Amino acid sequence: MKCDYDVIIVGAGAAGLMCAIEAGKRGRSVWLIDHSKKLAEKIRISGGGRCNFTNLHTHPGAYLSRNPHFCKSALKQYTAADFIDLVESHNIAYHEKTLGQLFCDGSSQQIIDMLVKECDDVGVKRNMEIHVENISVNDDGGYLIKTSNNTQTCESLVIASGGLSIPKIGATSFGFDIARQFSLKIISTRAALVPLTFQSHLLERCKAMSGLSVHASVDCEGTSFSEGLLFTHRGLSGPSILQISSYWNDGEDIAINLCSDINILEKLRTTKINNPKGSVHNILSNYLPKRLAQSICDDQGINTNIAELSDKKISQLANAVNRWIITPSGTEGYKTAEVTLGGVDTNEISSKTMEVKNHKGLFFIGEVLDVTGHLGGFNFQWAWSSGYVAGQNV
Ligand code: FDA
Repeated sequence: MKCDYDVIIVGAGAAGLMCAIEAGKRGRSVWLIDHSKKLAEKIRISGGGRCNFTNLHTHPGAYLSRNPHFCKSALKQYTAADFIDLVESHNIAYHEKTLGQLFCDGSSQQIIDMLVKECDDVGVKRNMEIHVENISVNDDGGYLIKTSNNTQTCESLVIASGGLSIPKIGATSFGFDIARQFSLKIISTRAALVPLTFQSHLLERCKAMSGLSVHASVDCEGTSFSEGLLFTHRGLSGPSILQISSYWNDGEDIAINLCSDINILEKLRTTKINNPKGSVHNILSNYLPKRLAQSICDDQGINTNIAELSDKKISQLANAVNRWIITPSGTEGYKTAEVTLGGVDTNEISSKTMEVKNHKGLFFIGEVLDVTGHLGGFNFQWAWSSGYVAGQNV
């Protein structure tokens, strides 16, 4: 088969760059294209500008997918330690923030520069602002890519165009459209790792506490996360809420423990005996930020001493702290979501190579696949691992 390139990769984000590097190292001629002006915009804005590039505790259990086994092979073939070695070989300083999450000490641009240098070192040809107009299969089994500039052929075509989150910086449904063109199944998609929104009463309370954060445990249908929770003028956010958003379905309740280390019911009962004249607001303020304690008291219509609270009211108040049940009205959607849940059905793809089982030479990698990590560096690790694996096989 005589082609213009051995490999064409559509999407110069985390997964596409990693795949290009690995294919280039194997001596394959690679053309990496992207429709955006700048490559790897998501890396640039990630981790608050410091890129949470991997997680020391990467394990398959940190990923959601219709097939939870699919991610295992790639994560084993290219591990968090492998990416850390690459980062260290470029003298990029980093630190663990919490829970195994590794961030650059400097800026996420260092990760982009590292990946671009690695691409350049192995002769990857890169072009931005290239719009793919059509993809078809050649008579000899290769792929024909018609772009806004020209038409090129390749032996292996890699779709690394990511998910749907943050369209403002280049996200499109391109990968899903191509999957459909080749009759691949798509697991239905929705925004994940995304702030939740609420009806007006709760929204008003959130607004009044905007900027306040607590360590909370958030549960939805048996899945729970114990991390920070942030009140914002738009609702609830922070790591624990973003994490649970990937598990929350329309109409479901979530239960929030605003003070997970302390049994508030016990504390209120003993305080009623030991300090009956203590104001409820002051007592709660021993365990919660003052503004939050006040908001809970106001919401419960409590403005008295603890002695005046009935056992029933004490129990309601304790629940408002240790088991606050709320029903989100929705999520902020792809506009602010970090990732897309769902995607190209992994049953269509070889977990060992990332090649489509029924289409030789066609590969899908990264977020476009139905593999979605928890918050904390897991999504980039999936991009590196799946990109690496495809890079060995294109
Ligand atoms: P990615 O989205 O990185 O790349 C896809 C590329 O394809 C883009 O360059 C896009 O322009 C291009 N493209 C799209 N459509 C195209 C078309 N039609 N034609 C040509 N090109 C096209 N994860 C993590 O592990 N740690 C973190 O700190 C963060 N932080 C974070 C913050 C924010 C604000 C967001 C939105 C996301 C994160 N993430 C994250 C998630 C992480 O960014 C994401 O999972 C990876 O970037 C996915 O890598 P991909 O290469 O698959 O897609």
